[in-house]
Amino acid sequence: MAFNSHRDFFEVLEKEGELARVKKEVDWDGEAGAIGRKTYENQGPAILFEKIKDYPEGYRISNGTTGTWSRVALSMEMAKKASVREIYQEYEKRVDIKIPPKILKKSDAPCKENIMLGDEVDLHQFPMPLIHEGDGGRYVGTWDVVINKDPETNWQNWGMYRFMAHTKNWLTGWPQTTSQFAFIMNKSYLPYNKPMPVAIVLGADPLSHIIATAGIKPYENEAENVGGLRGQAVELVQCETSDLMVPAHAEIVIEGEVMPDQIAPDGPFGEYPGYRSGTMCAGVAVKVTAVTYRSKPIVTMIALGTPPDDSSIAASLTAAVAMKKGLMRHGVPVTDVYVPPEGVTHLIVIGVTKGGTETTRKVLDYFTLRRIMTNKHIVVDADVDVFNMAEVLHCFATRCHPGRGILYEWYEGRSNSLTPFYNPEERKKLKGCSVAFDSTWPPEWEKEIVPIKSSFKTIFGKEIIDKVNNNWDTYGIKL
Ligand SMILES: Cc1cc2nc3c(=O)[nH]c(=O)nc-3n(C[C@H](O)[C@H](O)[C@H](O)COP(=O)(O)O)c2cc1C
Repeated sequence: MAFNSHRDFFEVLEKEGELARVKKEVDWDGEAGAIGRKTYENQGPAILFEKIKDYPEGYRISNGTTGTWSRVALSMEMAKKASVREIYQEYEKRVDIKIPPKILKKSDAPCKENIMLGDEVDLHQFPMPLIHEGDGGRYVGTWDVVINKDPETNWQNWGMYRFMAHTKNWLTGWPQTTSQFAFIMNKSYLPYNKPMPVAIVLGADPLSHIIATAGIKPYENEAENVGGLRGQAVELVQCETSDLMVPAHAEIVIEGEVMPDQIAPDGPFGEYPGYRSGTMCAGVAVKVTAVTYRSKPIVTMIALGTPPDDSSIAASLTAAVAMKKGLMRHGVPVTDVYVPPEGVTHLIVIGVTKGGTETTRKVLDYFTLRRIMTNKHIVVDADVDVFNMAEVLHCFATRCHPGRGILYEWYEGRSNSLTPFYNPEERKKLKGCSVAFDSTWPPEWEKEIVPIKSSFKTIFGKEIIDKVNNNWDTYGIKL
């Protein structure tokens, strides 16, 4: 049975020893964020903060729902100890399966247990955390699912975008111009001076959040991908003040409209590359029209920062599988792609069956032709396990020629302004650069000149390998 809700999943996390309930009162102003950060940095459990300063009993904050590979495995109902490769393979198998959502009556939807409409709306009734010192404000949307709709086709887009509270009924957000949220807004609402309905969902089932982080193609219905990934339809219900459809078991749904004639300062924020984003910038302004929520609501937080955390792990999974498919379509003879969480989607490892400059150029072209979140691409031979960074680094250090093996390309108008190493001018112009490291043996080399790797599996003959393996227990060496 798939998890329908954040709460169901937390029960399983608790049984599996993956949840800490913090009963001591914790301050929303920095303390919860700092605890979340320290916990991530020590690969600790998901957290449920059960008593928040200034808030009544029952108003809670969670952190780190799927912030480790074991919790991602559990969210997909796999064994907790599944390897990253197994999780990738399972996700790749399931993500293209489409199961249409099931629509619930409003009276059956837990997210409608409590409803605030119009003037009753007061976001400060919820324990929105000030996550990091130096954040521009209290972020209510960090681990969220944000929904907006293309009025021409009725396509409802799901994405994950941060949102900060300004007042009791105004939020500001910063969907990048390359996001599908901005694509719809700039195509169908802003030019006509029309408010755009939006729903910001906190605490849905875990896979809805993971899919919200994924770069699913425009006009695809992400709710159907979630169904496929879960093996069961996701249950949706209509909003109170728009025709947007939201996960019915969510903890909190904030309904609103992006106002076409307003901007509001947003940020700074402790961002996903692991650094505080620059100064405040002009964000979109959302007037909140309603909030619906479960009794004893849980505000989902992620204390985003240096990896690994929910963000770098989800991106590792969803981006790598999408890139593998894209590279294949682009004619790259790819075996596997790994996006190490530690590289926060800046660093990608690509295994290929045939390496060399031509293949590496194709890899670089693939990455520089599109919306650019990545910048360093290590191309390795098929004998290297892309999921094993010790093997990848050894390969990079020993096979990448510093003169011939490094290919790079500049581009303009498409880079990610949050990438820390770009200077202010480059960020303004969205000017970027991509590099590919050809860490493969040149395909034109005769077999005789390719150095033999000096490892147990490769430098000995079959006879001695079998002998050592068969006798291993008799040597008295524990590995
Ligand atoms: C925690 C978290 C916060 C994010 N915040 C933003 C954001 O504020 N703006 C943005 O453009 N992308 C943000 N992203 C990245 C998007 O979620 C991601 O690019 C996703 O593919 C967007 O959906 P889309 O492809 O439908 O635009 C965030 C990702 C994570 C994991």
